[in-house]
Amino acid sequence: MTRAAHRAVAEANTNIALVKYWGKRDARLNLPAVGSLSLTLDGLATRTEVRFDAALGSDALSLNGQPASGTPLSRVTQFLDLVRARAGIALKAQVVSANNFPTAAGLASSASAFAALALASTRAAGLTLDGRELSQLARRGSGSAARSLYGGFVHLHRGTRDDGADCYAEPITENGGAEAWGVRLVVAVTSDGQKETLSTDGMRHTAETSPYYAEWLATSEPDLKAARQAIAARDLEALGTVTERSCLSMHASAMAARPAVVYFLGATIDGYRAVQAMRRAGLPAWFTCDAGPHVKALTDAAHADEVAARLAAVPCVLRTLVCAPGQAARIVEGDA
Ligand code: DP6
Repeated sequence: MTRAAHRAVAEANTNIALVKYWGKRDARLNLPAVGSLSLTLDGLATRTEVRFDAALGSDALSLNGQPASGTPLSRVTQFLDLVRARAGIALKAQVVSANNFPTAAGLASSASAFAALALASTRAAGLTLDGRELSQLARRGSGSAARSLYGGFVHLHRGTRDDGADCYAEPITENGGAEAWGVRLVVAVTSDGQKETLSTDGMRHTAETSPYYAEWLATSEPDLKAARQAIAARDLEALGTVTERSCLSMHASAMAARPAVVYFLGATIDGYRAVQAMRRAGLPAWFTCDAGPHVKALTDAAHADEVAARLAAVPCVLRTLVCAPGQAARIVEGDA
């Protein structure tokens, strides 16, 4: 390893799944039980510096300007152990990570964090991985992180192999991609509180106890196919229809768990109804929601401000954000 390669800084944008991932087929390798399809978002990024240093006795983590310990640090250490094993090094690392968006945006996510960590740590360790390998590594940190390595629309393939070799993310580039098409994602923040059940725990509990889990899994392949067809045809209505039903099927499986995993607040339902009313009024808008109460609406550039204004008028919606498609993860310093 050259000296210049000890340190690297990377940035990765977050992403929102249009066809959801919920459930694992292998918890140790973090292999998803279903494929997923996402849109990477502009303007919501994590910037992460990794510095391997012989003077360090253990890994250290700073998150948004604060020293971090406990679960965040142990997840980073476990992840770095994979990188160290691959690079054949034993050096500990200083990791400094910050989001360029406030945690209060309700979008702080492990997706951009582990994508940026995967890129920065491998570069700092002197490894050169291709996109597929990087996405597979990021997936070990968080399933959704595999998708944040790429910009625009991204498909994370489920794969069938036990070793995960055929589970990787790849960008969908047909017809010029998401930006040329002009899709937008509007986020309506409905709460500043922490979410109750982390996605990892919510999906495990759903898989273990929900009588609807198998039915949820069965929706995935047809929905992925329909979404890919809609993207190829630049058919926003078809993509929106799949987006909404995938989200609701995922949440239905979680709600049927015992005890139930319910991420919706009243404002989430009100937001959903507002999106339905927009469509009745002729606006292109489709609802989605992740492991938290915030409302997200898929729309296009021409209607994004109006969709945001209507969601902002929903009682208990705190603020809204319009996101264009974002770019792939990138090295911003330390490109040795
Ligand atoms: C509802 O990627 O956070 O956002 O792999 O356990 O870290 P782990 O889960 P994570 O789950 C994301 C769940 C989701 C849907 C999605 O992004 O596909």
